[in-house]
Amino acid sequence: MLAIGNVPLANQVIMAPLAGITDQAFRVIAKSFGCSLVTTEMISDMGLIYGQSRTYRIASTSGEERPVAVQIFGSEPDTMGKAARIVQDLGADIIDINMGCPTPKIVKNGEGAALMLDIPRCREIIRAVVAEARVPVTVKMRSGWDQEHLTYLELGRVAEAEGAAALTLHPRTRMQFFAGKADWGQIRQLKQEVGIPVVGNGDIRTPQDAKRMLDETGCDAIMVGRAALGNPFLLRAIAAYLETGMIPDPPDRKERTQVAMRHLQLAIEFKGEWVAVREMRKQLAWYVKGHPGAAHIRAELNAATSREEITSIFAAWAAQEDFNPRQ
Ligand SMILES: Cc1cc2nc3c(=O)[nH]c(=O)nc-3n(C[C@H](O)[C@H](O)[C@H](O)COP(=O)(O)O)c2cc1C
Repeated sequence: MLAIGNVPLANQVIMAPLAGITDQAFRVIAKSFGCSLVTTEMISDMGLIYGQSRTYRIASTSGEERPVAVQIFGSEPDTMGKAARIVQDLGADIIDINMGCPTPKIVKNGEGAALMLDIPRCREIIRAVVAEARVPVTVKMRSGWDQEHLTYLELGRVAEAEGAAALTLHPRTRMQFFAGKADWGQIRQLKQEVGIPVVGNGDIRTPQDAKRMLDETGCDAIMVGRAALGNPFLLRAIAAYLETGMIPDPPDRKERTQVAMRHLQLAIEFKGEWVAVREMRKQLAWYVKGHPGAAHIRAELNAATSREEITSIFAAWAAQEDFNPRQ
């Protein structure tokens, strides 16, 4: 059975960390749709050390989502080690180190993907985190800074030597951001380079994509990001397809509505109605994206200020299917 360190995973389907999205509510939903591992949003080491309340909120996890990886970012070995200890005490089953974030405000501090230009520093950070952690430590990276600095294989070797339990590769460079295609050949290369589990990531949109990545690269598990937004059903479909070769029917409007409302309910439980309603507008609109009436619903959601309003917007949308099942 697949395991990251001593943490067994029920299948090969992992939900990606997505800042601003994979909060507790999202993670509980994703878990209920059958992925074996979820990850928090990226969390600042300094925010944890200074005890910022927002940082602690995004680092907190609940039993329902376990096993859960908590992702930390920073550029100093010492503070990353301290941050590791804090998130471990808060309940992390796995500690993931972010070495791939391309955002300007992160890389200008030497954090995220900027670290891929400084492999000795990566080594020190991984060493410090592993030294503090009782739980497995993993590293999530890109292929490098740019085409002239493809350092993923070197970082993979270093991470393994320092005791990392698994690696995730999103095979684009920092300079690519999200442009072009993820180069799955690099996932295969990394898999051949190291003995620890490799999680492949990038551009998986369908169950067939997931299977193709596993087959083409030999990676141990796959990680799904953007395609699961408003679409946790994809996680269920991938898990089913990998297990049985069959793809379950896509969700109808009723199921989409039920899950969107459960997602909202969880967000309200974790954050209170005022915050949840405002933060969830974007995510709720994704549940109807691509369906007739989506633009209209998005506008209505943007104006909604209570759970009640949102419930009735979705109820009206769900009911439409009864009039025209072919829509
Ligand atoms: C909105 C957004 C937020 C993200 N936040 C994080 C993050 O906090 N930590 C991280 O390691 N990667 C983050 N990523 C990268 C994803 O985890 C993933 O590597 C990337 O989206 C490629 O996978 P995909 O093609 O399946 O989306 C983010 C990506 C997006 C689009």
